[in-house]
Amino acid sequence: MARGNVEGKFENYKTIFGVEIAKESLSYAKKRDELDKASPISRRSQITKRKMGLRRFEIHSNWVMMDFGSCTLKVSLVQEYLLSFVWSLEGESTPKYRKDLSEEFKSNPAHFRVEHEHNGIHIDAGRLQIRIRNNGSIDYEINGELIRSDLPPLISNRKLVHESRIRPKSKLFGTGERAIPLDLRGNRVTMWNHDPNGSYGPGIDPIYISIPQIIDLDGETGYGIEYMNPSKGTIDLCKKEKNLLVVEFSSGQLEYYITFGNMQEILERLSRVTGFPMLPPRWSFGFHQSKYSYINAKQIEDVAEGFKRYNLKISAIHMDIDYMNGYRVFTTNSNSFPDIKGLSERLKKQGIRLVSILDPAVKWDEDYSIFKEVMRIHGYVKDPEGGPIGAPVWAGKSVFPDYSSEETQRWWGSLYSFFETNGISGVWHDMNEPVAFTLWGDNSLPLSSIHEKGSHSEIHNLYALFMAKAGYEGLVRAANEFRPFMLSRSGWSGIQRYSFVWTGDTESTWEELKQTVSTILNLSLSGIPYTGVDIGGFSGTPTRSLFLRWFQLGAFLPLFRVHSAKGTGDREPWTYGEQALEIVRKFLELRYSMIPYWYSVAFESHQTGHPLIRPISYHFPQKFDDNSFMVGESILVYPVLEEDTKKMNIELPPGKWYSLWDSRVNEGTIEETVDESYIPVYIREGSVIPRENGRLHFDIYPNGNFSFTFYQDDDRLRPKFRTIEFVGKKVGNRFVLEYRQGGNADGNEEILMVLKDVEYVFKKNNSNELSVSNKEGSIEIIQKKSKEASK
Ligand code: NOJ
Repeated sequence: MARGNVEGKFENYKTIFGVEIAKESLSYAKKRDELDKASPISRRSQITKRKMGLRRFEIHSNWVMMDFGSCTLKVSLVQEYLLSFVWSLEGESTPKYRKDLSEEFKSNPAHFRVEHEHNGIHIDAGRLQIRIRNNGSIDYEINGELIRSDLPPLISNRKLVHESRIRPKSKLFGTGERAIPLDLRGNRVTMWNHDPNGSYGPGIDPIYISIPQIIDLDGETGYGIEYMNPSKGTIDLCKKEKNLLVVEFSSGQLEYYITFGNMQEILERLSRVTGFPMLPPRWSFGFHQSKYSYINAKQIEDVAEGFKRYNLKISAIHMDIDYMNGYRVFTTNSNSFPDIKGLSERLKKQGIRLVSILDPAVKWDEDYSIFKEVMRIHGYVKDPEGGPIGAPVWAGKSVFPDYSSEETQRWWGSLYSFFETNGISGVWHDMNEPVAFTLWGDNSLPLSSIHEKGSHSEIHNLYALFMAKAGYEGLVRAANEFRPFMLSRSGWSGIQRYSFVWTGDTESTWEELKQTVSTILNLSLSGIPYTGVDIGGFSGTPTRSLFLRWFQLGAFLPLFRVHSAKGTGDREPWTYGEQALEIVRKFLELRYSMIPYWYSVAFESHQTGHPLIRPISYHFPQKFDDNSFMVGESILVYPVLEEDTKKMNIELPPGKWYSLWDSRVNEGTIEETVDESYIPVYIREGSVIPRENGRLHFDIYPNGNFSFTFYQDDDRLRPKFRTIEFVGKKVGNRFVLEYRQGGNADGNEEILMVLKDVEYVFKKNNSNELSVSNKEGSIEIIQKKSKEASK
C-alpha cells in the first residue's frame, strides 16, 4: 500500500479507533519504514542465472546427490511416489525454522533405481521416470507422459526462482486461501498472509492464508508439490508466460516435496509431510452463532434464549473482542461480563458452549501482568537492537509474542487455563497474520524485525501456525481430557493439525457468496480440511435472500457459523421473519441429523488427509465444476449462488444420484426448481449415510462396490470410540452389505439400517428397515419382485 492520502487515513482511523490509535498508527508506520530501510532485508538482490554443470554425483539406495559446483541437489525417495528435492548453495545453512515445517514421518522407500546416463541422472521409480540433466533441468514422466519440466533454478545470494513448463491443458489448484477461481491458471498469487483491511471480495490477493502447495492435474494424472519455504514469495501460475509456473521466495532454501498420482493420492501423500488433520470435538460440527460483538453477557443470554424460544438447534455462541478489559488478552470486562464462568455454566445447561476470540498482541501496559511477563522472559518480537517492537492494534500500542520460540510457546500455552477456568470451550485466534495498524505500507511487523527462528520476512507466514501450536498444546494441558476446538484466521501448512480456519472478512455480496466455493475448495486442496465462512458475509447487511442462500451453503461446510461486523444489521435466525426462520430451522435440523456423517468423514480426514469438502473432480476426474462440491465421497451439493435463481440445470456425474430430501433417483442432466427453501443435494448410489433423528440409523443407497467407516466417540483425547465398517458388494441383481463393529466403547448398540431405494428390500424381512445386533455379519438386499410387494 502506498503512502498516499495519509491525512484522509488518519481521519478515518480517528473515527474508527480513536485519536490515540490513529497517532500510534502514524508513528508506527514511520518507525517501520526506518527499520526496514536500515536493514539489508528490503534490498532486492540481483537474480543471476547460474550456469550449472554436473561435476560429481553419489548414488545411494534411496537417495542421490549431485554436485553442480555452485550448488548441490539431493533427491530422496521418501515413500512410493513421494520425493524430496533439496538444492543447497555452497555454505548455506539450514534455516532454524526448518524442522517446524514438516512432520517427521517414516521413510518407506519403494522401487528406486538410479543410473548415470551421458546427459545426466535417470531415476526409475516404476511408473514415474525422472531425468535430471547435467545442466540442472529436470523432466518428470508418468506412464510415458511428460508432465513437468523444470528449468535449471535461477539462484542469487538470497533469492531463488523455480521455473517449470507444464502441460497446456492442466488445471492448477492449492496455494492456500485465494479469492480467485478454483482453477488458478492465469493468476499470480502472493505468499504473504495478509489482512485485506476490513473486507474483501473476488480478485483480492493476498488474503490470510498462503500455502506453498500446488496441485497440477490434467484429468486424473498429475502431481502435487509442496515447498518447504515460508518466506515472502510469489507463485505465477502461467500468468506471465503460457504454461510456465514460476515460484519465487525472497530467501531460504529451494526445497520441496513432489508427489505423483491423482488428486486423492496427492492429498494423502502431502498430508504425511505437513501432518494429518486433527479430529475436532463432535459438537463443533453443530451450529455457531457469532457477532462482532455481543457486547455484554445479557445479550449472549438473550441470543441463547431466542434459540430456545424458536426451538432452533445451536452448539456454540462466540464472544468477540468486547468481552475483554480494554482488549487486554486473557482478561474480562468486569462490568459487561462480570461472571463468565456463571454465563458459560448457564449456557451449557442449554447445550450451548462459549467460544472466545483471542488476539496475539499484548497491550503495552506496565501494570498488566501478561505484559510484565512477556517482557520478563524477553518473549517478544524484537527490533534489530533487541528491544520490543511496539505497534498498535485494538488495545493500542502492543508487543507481539514471538511464538517461534519454544519457551514463549510454553508460556503462552499456559495462559489458556484462563479458558478452562471460565468454562470456555473453544478459542478463536484472530489478527494473527499478525496485524498491526498502520497508516500506510504493509499492515504487519517490520520485515527486519527478529524472531527467535528468523527475520519477520521468513517467519511472518508461520506466525499463526506457531501461535496455534502454542494454544492447542496449552488447551490440551489445561483441559487434559477433551479435545480442543480452535479457529484461526491465518495459517500455513500444518494449521490443520490444530485448528479450523474461516475465510475472514468477506463482503456481503452475491459475488463473494459465489467466490466462497472456490476459496474453500482451494483451501481443501492445500491440505486444510476444516473451513468455514461468515454466513451472510462479514462486512455488510445481507438481504433476506442472500442470507438464506448463504445459510444453506454454510449448512454444508465444516464450520457452520454466522458472524458479522460491527454496525451491520442483526443476523440471528429470527431476524428475517417467520418464513425465513422456517427455512433456517429446516437447514439446522438437516445439519444436526447429518453430524454422524460429518464426524465419520472428519475421522477419515484425520487418518488419510482427504479434505471434508472436495471438488467433484476429486471423485470424477473428468468433471470440473467450481460451483458445486462434495462432502466426503457420498454427498454432492449444488448451492444456489446467484440472485433470483429459480431453476438450475445440473449435469450430474455418472451413476444414480438420490435426492437427499426425498430419495428420488436422478441421472444425467436434470433441471431443478430451486424455491428459496431448497438447494439440490444428492447422495451417490452405493453409499451408507449415518444419520441421527432421535435415533442413530444408517441410510443405505444400494449399488456398486464401496466401503464406508462410521466413527463416533466421546470427544476425549483418549476417546471411547465405536466404529462400524461397511463393505458393499454387488453380486448379480443382489447386493450384499457386510458390516463389522469395532472400538473400545462399552455396549453393543443395535444397528438400524434403512434402505432408501424402493426397488430393493432386505431379504431377511422383506422390508426396508432392519435392526441387527451382532458385532459383524452380512445382510442381503434383493430387488423387489414388484412395486406392489412393498405396500
Ligand atoms: C477481524 C475478524 O476477521 C473478525 O471476524 C472480527 O469480528 C474482528 N476482527 C473483531 O475482532
